[in-house]
Amino acid sequence: MTTVTVCVGSSCHIKGSRQIIVRFNELLKEHGLEDKIELQGSFCMERCGEGLNWQIDEEPVTSNSVEEAILTFIEKVVQPSTDSAASKRSKAADHGGE
Ligand code: FES
Repeated sequence: MTTVTVCVGSSCHIKGSRQIIVRFNELLKEHGLEDKIELQGSFCMERCGEGLNWQIDEEPVTSNSVEEAILTFIEKVVQPSTDSAASKRSKAADHGGE
């Protein structure tokens, strides 16, 4: 289980952290990852000046815009998770699964 934490402190909120959470949620639903990725909000991560702040497990991520955050989320969270699900499925198929 991966935990994605989005800062919802006032500075990040003004930059669009609410939209990020809404879009991340939609992406998780679209890809059926709701039970693999946990999404949560956090108070100020004390990196306000840097941009929109969030993290993937313990890895801090800073994005300059909502769009950039969504692209990073797809690249670092959605794709690796869907790839591993797909490879598990094909392994199961190799062994007569499905
Ligand atoms: S409000 Fe997000 S890091 Fe401070």
